[in-house]
Amino acid sequence: MQAPKHGLAAGEQPDSPDWTIDQGWARYTAAEHATWKTLFERQTRLLPGRACDEFVQGMRELPIGATQIPDFRALSEVLMRRTGWQVVAVPGLVPDEVFFEHLAHRRFPAGNFIRRPEQLDYLEEPDVFHDVFGHVPMLMNPAIADFIQAYGQGGLRAQQLGHLKHLARLYWYTIEFGLLQQRGGLRLFGAGIASSFTESKFCLADASPNRIGLTLERVMRTNYRIDDFQETYFVIRDLDALLEFTRIDFAPLYERVQALPEFQPGDVREGDVVFTRGSGAYHAAKRAEERAEERAEVRANERAAEPVGPGRGTA
Ligand SMILES: [Fe+2]
Repeated sequence: MQAPKHGLAAGEQPDSPDWTIDQGWARYTAAEHATWKTLFERQTRLLPGRACDEFVQGMRELPIGATQIPDFRALSEVLMRRTGWQVVAVPGLVPDEVFFEHLAHRRFPAGNFIRRPEQLDYLEEPDVFHDVFGHVPMLMNPAIADFIQAYGQGGLRAQQLGHLKHLARLYWYTIEFGLLQQRGGLRLFGAGIASSFTESKFCLADASPNRIGLTLERVMRTNYRIDDFQETYFVIRDLDALLEFTRIDFAPLYERVQALPEFQPGDVREGDVVFTRGSGAYHAAKRAEERAEERAEVRANERAAEPVGPGRGTA
């Protein structure tokens, strides 16, 4: 069964121009709180030794627990005192310019719905678990808080300049799927991996993906996967490295990147700082599987198109 869509993906019309709604906390059902609890408990067990210190610290200081879906007002109170951010409820995905406008004003738009129990492992749309568990702890960090605000401002500008694709790759490979160097080795800080049961393990431990030092130009030239684990994870030195990006004028960089060839998600290029050269085995197996399915489909279509001859059908 097709899962219901939300927000922009459902073709919804917003009640207000900024798409915000009441979180409707009192309306969550016991079953929805139970889904949160399942997700929260299994993910919390996974994160020691995988999530960066800042994530763990942020989580510890926020009113986020296992028993119930967090109340955005309570989250915002703590966040506001720490970094001047707040969490606002939206019905699901919102248009780019609405998203950027919120970020530019230190408001993090979070989906108020929670995935269904049969979608625990994979969900196309960001729900309250991804948005709150994945993103909000990092918003307690001053460097991330400033970087995401600057990303919102930069997003509005990149739209005007026609370079949203390039900027969006930076967000993808940092805020959603970024890794960080820490004392004990690589740690995750991206929300897409922090909130994923399977990818939080894959991104750090699997032999398949590449792990490469992040530079602005490299990520802006690199396509990404939205439908599966990443083929490459980019690594930053520390969170202040993101802050340094906010002091750079991206316009000349966009021009340069535009004139250069793009990289595919699994590429390793000369000049890359390679932490791990991935085997590519996971995605190679996936591609082989897809090719086999395609061949089977072609054969089935050919058989269906064959004329019914003697000895077959209703002879
Ligand atoms: Fe996200």
